[in-house]
Amino acid sequence: MLTPDVVHLNHGSFGACLRSVFTETSHIRERVEAAPMRYYVRDWQRELDAARVSAAAFVGAVPERFVFVPSATTGLALALASLPLTASDRIVTTTHVYPACRNQLERTGAQIQYVPTPLPFDDDQLVAVIDAALDGARLLVLDHITSPSALIYPLARLVPLAQRRGIPVLIDGAHAPGQLPLEVEALGATWYVGNHHKWMCAPKASGFLAVAPDIAVPPLVTSHGGTAGYGPANRLHAELDWSGTYDPAPILAVPVAIRAVAAEVSDWTFVREHNHVLVQAFTEALDATALSAPSAIGSMQAVAIELPAGLTTSALEQRLLAAGFEVPIVGYLDRPLLRISAHLYNHLDEADALARTLHELGVTVL
Ligand SMILES: Cc1ncc(COP(=O)(O)O)c(C=O)c1O
Repeated sequence: MLTPDVVHLNHGSFGACLRSVFTETSHIRERVEAAPMRYYVRDWQRELDAARVSAAAFVGAVPERFVFVPSATTGLALALASLPLTASDRIVTTTHVYPACRNQLERTGAQIQYVPTPLPFDDDQLVAVIDAALDGARLLVLDHITSPSALIYPLARLVPLAQRRGIPVLIDGAHAPGQLPLEVEALGATWYVGNHHKWMCAPKASGFLAVAPDIAVPPLVTSHGGTAGYGPANRLHAELDWSGTYDPAPILAVPVAIRAVAAEVSDWTFVREHNHVLVQAFTEALDATALSAPSAIGSMQAVAIELPAGLTTSALEQRLLAAGFEVPIVGYLDRPLLRISAHLYNHLDEADALARTLHELGVTVL
C-alpha cells in the first residue's frame, strides 16, 4: 500500500501492510459493524482464541500465556505495572533502550542503571557489563533488537545471567517478530513483548505480551474480566483480552498477514534472509562502515553519519522527508545515526538515491 512517490527505507518504525491484508481487515470490520452483538457476544472470543494460537505459534510462545495488546508500548506498561517497584529498587537496562520505554522505566520511581554499550558493538562486552551490573538488581530490561542502533542482543547469553540470580527479565521485542526466527518460550524471559505491525506486516495496533508460567499480570484497565467466573477459565485471557469495546480487526488479521507475506515469496525464512542480505547491500552502497558483525544484524542496520554545521538530526530527517525519503535519523549518545530497513518491496537502487541526496545535503556517511 506504500505510495510509489516515497522511498520507504523505514519499515522498522511503523511497518507496512499488504493491500490484501488491509482488505481482509476491512471485511472483519464490516462483519463487526453489520451485527455487533452477534459478533462480540457469539464470535469474538472464539476468533480471538484462533488468532492467538496462530500468532503465538509464529513466535514460539504458549497461547495460554499470550495476550494481544495494541502495541509493544502497552505490553511494556502491563509488565512493569505487574512488578511492585520502589525507590530502593534498581532496574538494569542499556543505553540503547527505546526512549518511550525509558520514560516508562523512569515513571516507576526505581533507580535506573543504563549500562553503557559502545559502538561498534561487541556482544562479549555487553554480556560482561550486564553480568557486572546485576548483583542486587530488581529487574533486567533488554531489547531483543535495539531501536536506535538496530543491534540483535544475544539474549540466550544474557537472560540466564538474571535467571540464575532470580531476577525477573523483561524483553522489549518490538522489532523481533518477522525479523528473527523467534522462540519466545525457549528464551526464558519473565515477560516478552512484541509487535505484529512492524516486521510481520500486520495492520497497525497489534502486538503481544507473553509471560512465564505462574506470572500474574493484572490489567491496566479493569473490565468484565474482574468479575470472578466471567469469560474464559484462563484468568490472564479473561482479564486482558477485553478492556472495553475495541476494534479487533488488526489482531484478527495477524494470521492473514503471516500467510500473505509468506505467499509473496516462499516462506518466512526467505523473507528474513532476503531482508538481511539486502540491508547489508544497502550499507555497502552507502559506503558505510558496519557498526557490528553481520550476526548482530537482522533486517535493519544503523550507520554513523556526520552532519554539516548547523543541521540537527531532526532537521535532516525533515529534509529527507521533503526529498521523498522515509528514513529515521537518530541521536545515540549524541552521535547521529541513520537507520535503514530492508523489506521485500525495497531495491538496492534506493540506497544509491539516498546516498546522492545525503551528499547533496552535505551529510557524510562514516
Ligand atoms: C525497541 C522498541 N520498543 C518499543 C517500540 C514501540 O512500539 P509501538 O509504538 O508499536 O508500541 C519501538 C518502536 O519503534 C521500538 O523500536
